[in-house]
Amino acid sequence: MAANKRLLVLPGDGIGPEVMREARRVVDWLDKRRAVSFAIEEGLCGGASLDKHGTPLTDETLERAKAADAVLFGSVGGPKWDSLPFDKKPERGLLRLRKEMDLFANLRPAVCFDALADASSLKPELVRGLDVMIVRELTSGIYFGQPRGIETLPNGQRRGYNTQSYTTEEIRRVVRVACELARKRNKRVTSVEKANVMESGVLWREEAQKLRDAEFPEIELSHMYADNCAMQLVRNPKQFDVIVADNLFGDILSDAAAMLTGSLGMLPSASLGAIDASGRRPALYEPVHGSAPDIAGQNLANPIAMLLSLAMTLRYSFDLLEDARLIETAVKRVLDGGARTGDIMQPGKAKVSTSVMGEMIVRELDNLAA
Ligand code: IPM
Ligand code: MG
Repeated sequence: MAANKRLLVLPGDGIGPEVMREARRVVDWLDKRRAVSFAIEEGLCGGASLDKHGTPLTDETLERAKAADAVLFGSVGGPKWDSLPFDKKPERGLLRLRKEMDLFANLRPAVCFDALADASSLKPELVRGLDVMIVRELTSGIYFGQPRGIETLPNGQRRGYNTQSYTTEEIRRVVRVACELARKRNKRVTSVEKANVMESGVLWREEAQKLRDAEFPEIELSHMYADNCAMQLVRNPKQFDVIVADNLFGDILSDAAAMLTGSLGMLPSASLGAIDASGRRPALYEPVHGSAPDIAGQNLANPIAMLLSLAMTLRYSFDLLEDARLIETAVKRVLDGGARTGDIMQPGKAKVSTSVMGEMIVRELDNLAA
């Protein structure tokens, strides 16, 4: 069969290449065993690109990302590049991809696998069965607002400043994604801001409500201040169905939500743009975890967030729901069987490496497809 899905793979830095290797193993398996085939290209991003090309993302790689059906991304950053000027930092590569591909909707599902309810830092009854979808705005807000900078004042003091800003349409399009997702779930959306102290939050709240009233009467929309949401996430996370938040609040809340599921090593994400006239939707898939330089290169990292990101690729870019579920079920079974990487290790379980976890999941895929 001719390869029909064009995938650009950007492993990045730190544990990125290790977890990506396991994703490639599953891609190969799908290629061989399922009715889908991939044309895979590899590229550099972050520190890896800086070292080779002097920039965290080349124009050429950006063009390849735009031309691909989906981008599979590892992670970027590390101490080696920490002292570089801001515009050279590895993270800029990722932020530029998000911005230039206009990936405004970042889906971060926090799902607790039963086998890991005891690995969470919360009591197991609070997280067992947890299934929250966080939708984070990804191309605006304080991450990109102008003016920004560090200046020296006449009195010699320095002043650092950033700008939080949102337009009507930037709010509406991401809230719309949240409502569309909620429609297929429990029909509840919690919109998060700080309307008590920020004008951009007042606008966010008003526009979210207007959008819901005009287009989603069947959705129950509530509003919550970001600080309260952080508290509620660790108090009673199962109260939430879909949470929609701006770029910065979404970044913070999704790390908190990740820990509820047992480990940051478990959380995948999808970053989606708007569907164009030809039906194509720009998309990038990445684990929520970072490059974890402390354990990089030691075959210790948890590859599951990366593998679940591949499952999201199948679901959201290729509409291959059955194949997506196969990967998720294989992960569940391997966890039920007691295999654990260090980050989710519990007494009485079997500690395995990155590559052994990947191999076990592929073996389980074989069993499931047999
Ligand atoms: C994330 C990360 C990134 C962000 C960094 C690596 C730029 O924390 O994807 O959550 O802040 O968005
Ligand atoms: Mg983050």
